[in-house]
Amino acid sequence: MRFTVAIDGPAAAGKGTIARAVAERFDFHHLDTGLLYRVVARKLLDLGRLDDAESEAPVLAAGLSEADLALNGLRDDPVSEAAARIAVLPEVRNALIGFQRWFAGREGGAVLDGRDIGTVVCPDAEVKLFVTAAEDIRARRRYREMHGRGETLTPDEVLQTIRVRDALDTGRGVAPLRQAVDAVLLDTSELTIESAAARAVAVVEKGLGRGR
Ligand code: DC
Repeated sequence: MRFTVAIDGPAAAGKGTIARAVAERFDFHHLDTGLLYRVVARKLLDLGRLDDAESEAPVLAAGLSEADLALNGLRDDPVSEAAARIAVLPEVRNALIGFQRWFAGREGGAVLDGRDIGTVVCPDAEVKLFVTAAEDIRARRRYREMHGRGETLTPDEVLQTIRVRDALDTGRGVAPLRQAVDAVLLDTSELTIESAAARAVAVVEKGLGRGR
């Protein structure tokens, strides 16, 4: 069976957790597409070629393999920053589309989460979800998460980083973050992560023809 679930949304809205919950419930493959941009960024940094990103990043993106997703340090701050920089390059985005579409079509079903899955990568996905939450709530969640890791940004600084990320994600010329017209909106502001995941599972059940 082939069945694609596309989950998009801004940073810290809960889409990764929801995507994992859906994948686990239905035993689908799961791809966090942000990792692809992070792999390319990490390789550029390792090569010391960040300043040559425009020429080098598309080549690295074209050569990406599934094994790269297990690289260490993909969530480190310098990698996050470099990933945001290369995500605006159309040649990088194009080079990563093939891998994402291959993954989406895998036998057994697939969940992909990112920014442009329902709009650009998989416009024909059987189920599309747009997961969001109010800016201050996303900032609070990210603050707690960072605090737990021992990072020392203030709540205000975290809110600023969320605003910068949102501006980059929604303002870029290619594949900006936006809700696909046929995506189901899931606002997690007032929901626990468990109830948000349960709602997403119900939407997928319905898409599979199993729900009411
Ligand atoms: O979700 P994340 O923080 O791991 O994403 C890393 C970077 O990649 C971030 O700058 C947004 C970008 N990205 C993107 O442009 N398109 C996607 N489908 C996924 C991530």
